[in-house]
Amino acid sequence: MQQFLIRDIYQKQLVNQKLCVNGWVKTRRDSKGGFSFLEVNDGSCLKNLQIIAENSLGNYHDDILNLFPGSSVKVEGTIVRSLGGNQEIELKAESVNVYGFSDVTTYPLQKQRISFEKLREIAHLRARTNTFGAITRVRNALSFATHRFFQERNFYYLNTPIITTSDCEGAGQLFRVTTLDMQNLPMNKPGNINSQSDFFGEEASLTVSGQLEAETYACALGRVYTFGPTFRAENSNTSRHLAEFWMVEPEMAFADLMQDITLAEDYLKFLINHLLNQCKEDLEFFNLHIENTLLEQLNNIVNCDFVILTYTDAIKILSKHKKFSFPVNWGMDLQSEHEQFLTEIEFKKPVVLTDYPKIIKPFYMRVNDDGKTVAAMDVLLPKIGEIIGGSQREERLDILQNRLKELGQNENNYWWYLDLRRFGTVPHSGFGLGFERLIKLCTGMGNIRDTIPFPRVPGNAKF
Ligand code: 4AD
Ligand code: MG
Repeated sequence: MQQFLIRDIYQKQLVNQKLCVNGWVKTRRDSKGGFSFLEVNDGSCLKNLQIIAENSLGNYHDDILNLFPGSSVKVEGTIVRSLGGNQEIELKAESVNVYGFSDVTTYPLQKQRISFEKLREIAHLRARTNTFGAITRVRNALSFATHRFFQERNFYYLNTPIITTSDCEGAGQLFRVTTLDMQNLPMNKPGNINSQSDFFGEEASLTVSGQLEAETYACALGRVYTFGPTFRAENSNTSRHLAEFWMVEPEMAFADLMQDITLAEDYLKFLINHLLNQCKEDLEFFNLHIENTLLEQLNNIVNCDFVILTYTDAIKILSKHKKFSFPVNWGMDLQSEHEQFLTEIEFKKPVVLTDYPKIIKPFYMRVNDDGKTVAAMDVLLPKIGEIIGGSQREERLDILQNRLKELGQNENNYWWYLDLRRFGTVPHSGFGLGFERLIKLCTGMGNIRDTIPFPRVPGNAKF
């Protein structure tokens, strides 16, 4: 008998069709009339399929009456119009085969609600809940839309290394990668490890960004994008930081900061429009159960023009309001309260801040004519804060060398990056979008730890 996904059964309204469904039992109800209702979910959509299993089935007493939440079944039967209740169609079983029973006393996902904190401790099972099923489908749709967006615009998908010997952001939040014996480290002199005898012959770490390597390919092929895991050992226990997160990083040759901003705005709107079309049922679920302004927020983003504002103008606006706990002054890194004020109170929509002071931004950003600011841009969203960070890149060799010197960096470590400026340098720009912050935006989930299957945060890398 042909196997169907529950999503297709609903979409195609396959009434009177004989078919087979596989899935996990959510609930069982026994009716006095000599039959049982099983709610079965197979992950293909939010909705369960109701199965009617009559007591005339050969294994009714032995098997079906022992089906509890979490058990797995194969059901063959005919789709019929439902007589009563909430669902328009149901599956009248001709056979129910059990793949695996569940244990009613120890299976953690019973009827009662479990907090998201508790679910993180059983991350191997939380995918079976309605919420995590929906998050997973949204994440998948956003990945697909990402590739579609860039492929349609002639960007090449590029895989950049995960193990690297360069620190892109220069913030020192690196996870070391080593095969040295921790009990017996080879030392040059006390306190100074000899990395030459390490696996790669020098200090290596997990990448914080694929940007520097992406630039080399953009400066050969024009337009590329990466989409991969990135790692930051920042010890921030917040609802928007992960130690391992996924980043999408487009890089374009022959593009300035304004073109970069346009690409970022178009990309975000494309992603949300794709979701509004493809994941209606899941978005409505989040709107109902997680964040009841979600659809309004998402529609607001696709229907507005983003505000573009210099950092300096933002500081002027913020200085008029004295109530912040971090006092505002030019040169500071903006705190969440300042970002929130701009996006949620002052403008009530996405704000792209540009031209930050160079002292708070990495070495690779293009220095503006004023000598004090750089051609940077951050996209800030209501409730989310920074979702995208990008810039025009410094393409002038001498200025870039000066920047490295100012920051106390050894330019020899960046010889290959500087070569791009030595041989046919071109203006180029790019940005990085934090994929989990995007999912947070699109689901309304309050904590970023619930947007990735197995979150890595300080003190926890379980599973
Ligand atoms: O602003 P960031 O640090 O920019 C870069 O890494 C550049 N190299 C990108 C580029 O121009 N190609 O990071 C980019 C985005 C942030 O805006 C944020 O959304 C996300 O990555 N991000 C994090 N997401 C989750 N957990 C963390 N610890 C994050 N750190 C950054
Ligand atoms: Mg940033």
